[in-house]
Amino acid sequence: EKGGYEHFMLKEIFEQPRSILDSMRGRMIAENNHLMMGGIREYENKFANAQRILIVACGTSWHAGLVAEYLIEDLARIPVEVEYASEFRYRNPIVNENDIVIAISQSGETADTLAAIELAKSKGATIFGVCNVVGSSIARATDAGAYTHAGPEIGVASTKAFTAQVTVLTLIAMMIGSKRGAIETSKLYELIAELEQIPAKVEQTLKLDKQIEEISAIYKDVTNFLYLGRGYNFPVALEGALKLKEISYIHAEGYPAAEMKHGPIALIDEHMPVVVIATKDSSYEKIVSNIQEVKARKGKVIAIVTEGDTTIPAMADHVIEIPETSEHLMPLLSVVPLQLLSYHIAVMRGCNVDQPRNLAKSVTVE
Ligand code: F6R
Repeated sequence: EKGGYEHFMLKEIFEQPRSILDSMRGRMIAENNHLMMGGIREYENKFANAQRILIVACGTSWHAGLVAEYLIEDLARIPVEVEYASEFRYRNPIVNENDIVIAISQSGETADTLAAIELAKSKGATIFGVCNVVGSSIARATDAGAYTHAGPEIGVASTKAFTAQVTVLTLIAMMIGSKRGAIETSKLYELIAELEQIPAKVEQTLKLDKQIEEISAIYKDVTNFLYLGRGYNFPVALEGALKLKEISYIHAEGYPAAEMKHGPIALIDEHMPVVVIATKDSSYEKIVSNIQEVKARKGKVIAIVTEGDTTIPAMADHVIEIPETSEHLMPLLSVVPLQLLSYHIAVMRGCNVDQPRNLAKSVTVE
């Protein structure tokens, strides 16, 4: 049932070219630049006219929500707020009938996310779900939604569900942006063409597995890790750190790279590995400076870079080269090496990667 893989997590990581494709299937026809999503059709005008979108989720799904915030604000120009469902539900939030709430959940059973939905509903907001499990409690509690169609995710650490969520949320951002006239047609077409190529580029990224396993062997015994990213790669830094914590029990922190100087830089010495997601995008020059700051303090840098980069390889201790794509879509590629890094480190530490201690696949407790 693990399809020849040693663990479900590894199988699910390797399934991503397929699961991402499945999450787009019937929703994007690249040949004629067509986007459609059954779940959104009825609410298309509501989305297009929304004054504000709230996103509620927990854990990895919350990270997908952060990527969606950047996408929706950039492509559709609608203000977005991303909330931990558990904070939102207990803090007397301001919600009204004009708000659209997007709830993101793999399992569709997360108690805090469900309660956040009920609260927003009671205030008259429209609730849109992005769930993986068909017929789940959250899917049933929403007014409309889009399934991620990633297939069953068995490993407790979420991998293919995350990339499917990001894919669906990207499609939603592009659809609303196009409906509102907020995105130039040429840019929309360019993104559609790029998105079409993502499954093949994930496949290419998965070929880095052996290299990542070798890097993992070097760092498997450390006690701390720092993950840095900017822009679209900031939520990826958070997600990479969460994956490592969950399954290897190594303490890891994800940070927006520019915030390092406001505190975490004090932690950096020759014992601190720092994973920097430094792909070629609008903040590239800035993140190169962040790598210099880490190196000046003798930190060990594992850099995720765009293929062909010549600057960072001269500075970093290890370089993992991933294919080029639009910065809007980069999380779909840049998260993959981080999933593999956490997987291999956990296996080498003898951890139970599919069933990490203290964690459950569906968090139905509050
Ligand atoms: C991380 C992980 C958890 C879940 C979180 C939300 O690998 O699995 O952080 O993402 O418990 O779960 P869902 O998406 O089912 O609501």
